[in-house]
Amino acid sequence: MGPAPDALDTVSTLPPPPPPRPSRAYRVTFLPAGTTISVDPAKVPYDRHGQPGSILEIALAHGVDIDHACGGVAACSTCHVIVREGANSIPEPTERELDYLDLAPGLQPTSRLACQAVPSGASDVVVEVPNWNRNHAREGAHS
Ligand code: FES
Repeated sequence: MGPAPDALDTVSTLPPPPPPRPSRAYRVTFLPAGTTISVDPAKVPYDRHGQPGSILEIALAHGVDIDHACGGVAACSTCHVIVREGANSIPEPTERELDYLDLAPGLQPTSRLACQAVPSGASDVVVEVPNWNRNHAREGAHS
């Protein structure tokens, strides 16, 4: 006799499996600052904030700070960003990402969790950091 059905209805606390890494070089621009970063696929991951090659990881590795309360494991919505250009070059969000995005203020059709969104490199990407997150944002040299 197996476990009761309710025992199987647990929510995984493990982060989702990583999406494919970028296959070619591309640029990501963070608005409203207008900071543009050239991403070399051979150099990702950086510091392991979110999925390897994620928008969050790229930002933090280059001095663009985006809030990331859960550490980049898709367990909050503080890293919410809006993809203004190049959304088609980012694989579709997982159910888990969508669940947490639903908790983000100012949700838009191209909203993503920066820690889970990994551009493929098929095109350049432009990302807006929402103003409620911008208060936490600072730019400067990466340490
Ligand atoms: S940092 Fe928590 S979901 Fe991205």
